[in-house]
Amino acid sequence: MSNWYKITSIKNIPNMGSRVVEFGDIEIAIFKTKDNSIFAINNICPHKQGKLSEGLVHEDIVTCPLHNWEISLKSGEALGNDKGCTNIYESKIEDEIIFLKI
Ligand code: FES
Repeated sequence: MSNWYKITSIKNIPNMGSRVVEFGDIEIAIFKTKDNSIFAINNICPHKQGKLSEGLVHEDIVTCPLHNWEISLKSGEALGNDKGCTNIYESKIEDEIIFLKI
């Protein structure tokens, strides 16, 4: 069963950047896009486990820092000709606080 967990203020996530949180042995990268949307995905690239939190954010996509795969922040899926998917997590914002459903 999933629960909502309070994470941090939206102000603590840099614009077009990310912050990593850990739940047990799961690393989750929380991204903030240019339009202040929040996305939470596993911090592991589906290609060869690059740290997506270290990638470049553009629109609702992150480019993996290792081999430049583009990963959708909405679905966790690799885009273009690349195939693979990383987990995504539902998020919500209440009074500027980010919550994740895990
Ligand atoms: S590990 Fe991410 S593109 Fe290769």
